[in-house]
Amino acid sequence: MHTLHVELGERSYPIYIGRDLLNDPQLLGAHLTGSQVVVVTNETVSPLYLDRLLAILGERALVTEVILPDGEQFKNLETLNQIFDRMMHDRHNRSTTMIALGGGVVGDITGFAAACYQRGVNFIQVPTTLLSQVDSSVGGKTAVNHPLGKNMIGAFYQPQAVLIDINTLHTLSPREFAAGLAEVVKYGLICDLPFYRWLQEQTPRLLAREEAALAEAIERSCSSKAAVVAADEREGALRAILNLGHTFGHAIETAQGYGKWLHGEAVAVGMLMAMELSARRGWIEPAEVVAFRDLLRVINLPVAPPADMTPGQYLDLMGRDKKVIDGRLRLVLLRGMGEACIVDDATEEELVSLLETFR
Ligand code: NAD
Ligand code: GLY
Repeated sequence: MHTLHVELGERSYPIYIGRDLLNDPQLLGAHLTGSQVVVVTNETVSPLYLDRLLAILGERALVTEVILPDGEQFKNLETLNQIFDRMMHDRHNRSTTMIALGGGVVGDITGFAAACYQRGVNFIQVPTTLLSQVDSSVGGKTAVNHPLGKNMIGAFYQPQAVLIDINTLHTLSPREFAAGLAEVVKYGLICDLPFYRWLQEQTPRLLAREEAALAEAIERSCSSKAAVVAADEREGALRAILNLGHTFGHAIETAQGYGKWLHGEAVAVGMLMAMELSARRGWIEPAEVVAFRDLLRVINLPVAPPADMTPGQYLDLMGRDKKVIDGRLRLVLLRGMGEACIVDDATEEELVSLLETFR
C-alpha cells in the first residue's frame, strides 16, 4: 500500500492506494469518529462491495445503508434529499460518519450531503471507478447537477480520508474504464509530460488492467491532483487547470442529457478541442494533436463530439460555465505539452471556427 497526503493544514488527509484495502478494518477504523455510520452507495456497487465494507466497519451502534439508483441523471437535489430523509429518520447526529462507496456520482452527492447535514459531518471516500480514484474522490469538490448545468449546486468539502482499493477496478466495464483513463491522461497533458509519454507507451498494460501499471497511473494522478489542490483548494486560479477539456465536455454532457455521454468521454473530446486550439495558437505542434487523437482511439474513447451540436449551442452552454468571470469565458489550454495555462481572450470567432472543424 502507498499513502499520499493532501496537505491542507488542519484539513489534511491521507489517500491510501493499494490492493485489498476493503479487507482491512484498521484503515477505515482510524477515520471513524463516532459510533454512527451512513454508507451511501448505488444499486450496481452494493451487490459487489457493500458486504465487504460492512464487514470491516465492525460493530457500530447505528449503520444506515442508503442505496441510490445508478446514474448521472440521479445526481440531483431530489436524490440528495432522499439521503437526508434516511439520516433524519434514523436519527443521525453530528458525530456520524458518511462513507461514499462508488464512483464519482455517489462520491459527489455524498460529499455534498456530508457538507450540509447538520452543517457538516465526517466523510470518507471509497471510490470504486478509475475516474473517481484518480480525480473526483480527491480535492473536496462536491455537488449535484442542475438541469441547466453540471455540478452547479455544491460545496468545497474535504473528506477525512480516501481509500482506493485497486481490486475494485476488475469489475468495471470497459467503457467506464476507458472514461477513467481520460482523466489519467489529463494529468500528463496539464503538468507531467514524462507521465504522458509513459502513458503513450503503457496504455496496453493499463487496458489489460495490470496491477503494477494501474497502481503507478493512480499514484501519479493522485499525486498531481493533491499538489494542485494543496496549492489552490478553492480554485482561485491554478486549480482550474484540472478542467482541461471540461468546458467543452460539460457542454456536451448537458446538451446530450446527463448520462448519455460519460463524463470521461466528453472530457476526452473536450481535451482534443483544447489541444487543437492550442495548436492553432502555435503553442503545441499539430503532430501532438494527431498523436493524442491516436491515443484516444487506442483507449477506445470518442474523437468527435455529437454530430448534432451546433457552435451556438456550445457557446450558450459554455457561457454558463463556472469558470466564467464577469462575462469572460476562461478556457484551459496548453502553452506547451505538459504545461496547462488559463486564457480569457478566446474570441467568439476563434471558438466558432474551432467548433465548425469538429462538426
Ligand atoms: P459513476 O459514478 O456514474 O460510475 C460509473 C458506473 O460504474 C456506474 O454505473 C457505477 O454504478 C458503476 N460502478 C462503480 N464502481 C464500479 C465497480 N467497481 N464495478 C462495476 N461497476 C462500478 O461515474 P464516474 O465516472 O465514477 O464519475 C463521474 C462523476 O464524477 C460525474 O458526475 C462527474 O461530474 C464527477 N466528477 C467529479 C469530480 C470532482 O472533483 N468532484 C471530478 C471529476 C468528475
Ligand atoms: N476535477 C476538477 C477539480 O477537482 O478541480
